[in-house]
Amino acid sequence: MARPHIEPFVDRSIDFKRFTLPGFSKGMHYKMLSVDNGTGACTMTVKYETGYKQPPGMSYTEVEILLMSGTIKYGKETFRPGHYLHIPPGVAMPEMKVSRAATVLMMYNFAEPSFVESDEHHRLAMPGQLTSVNAYDDIQWQPSSGAIYPAVAPGCMLKVLKYDPLTEALSFLYCMTPKFWQDNISYHDSAEEAYHIWGTSHMMQFGELPTGGYFWRPEYINHGSFSSELGILAFGRTDSKLHNYFHWNPWTSPEENRERAAAQLARHRPQLFNWTKSPDGHNHPHDFEYPDAKDNTHYI
Ligand SMILES: [Fe+2]
Repeated sequence: MARPHIEPFVDRSIDFKRFTLPGFSKGMHYKMLSVDNGTGACTMTVKYETGYKQPPGMSYTEVEILLMSGTIKYGKETFRPGHYLHIPPGVAMPEMKVSRAATVLMMYNFAEPSFVESDEHHRLAMPGQLTSVNAYDDIQWQPSSGAIYPAVAPGCMLKVLKYDPLTEALSFLYCMTPKFWQDNISYHDSAEEAYHIWGTSHMMQFGELPTGGYFWRPEYINHGSFSSELGILAFGRTDSKLHNYFHWNPWTSPEENRERAAAQLARHRPQLFNWTKSPDGHNHPHDFEYPDAKDNTHYI
């Protein structure tokens, strides 16, 4: 079951709750931003109390974390705001101590949050896939055209944090410059979620999204035009390729948008399109390079 459309949502409008799932230490509080009721996959704003301690351990599912305020000691390192972690499933994390009350954006992308104490990786883990970087200080902004085509208007820039080569799913920081505007309408084949770390933008369909604003937007939903008076800093994530289907009709439905996307595919790749829609079972293609990968699954 996919996550429902949530837009706009502002986490400042609700209180933190105690996070009490088994395995996690006391002193963790959360605001649920979106959840898949079938798998337990979710995105949360999480607040750690000063002095919070987590022993070395691992999660059974992929975790992404963006530190937004406070200071976290993570093994021998000290993380400051802007630090981003992509922890693949089963990859051992060192001891974590919160030396100054910290707020993070936390994403469990494929299953419910889990934590088990361990000082070694799971035997199937892929530690080489770990990403640990301060996204504010150590990555340059790039035009969106460097990662997304067709690109959004020039005042919206990106820092790519995670790119999945099998699904083309992306995680990224993005910003809008002051007085940014884009006057067309877009939709994608992917679901997308975003969280406003700072700043307010305006979307024609959904109104203002301020600091603490969040959306989970399923595929093929119209969004745009949009603008920002003073600019924004935000985190975004998709679950597959982020392709901008631009158009100018605000009244189309998700079903019409999907039809239009399929018509584009038929024009761009007619041989492949016709083969996959033929009645001989071709709509479940087999990939000899990734024989275990199923539709819409991650490669780790
Ligand atoms: Fe979008």
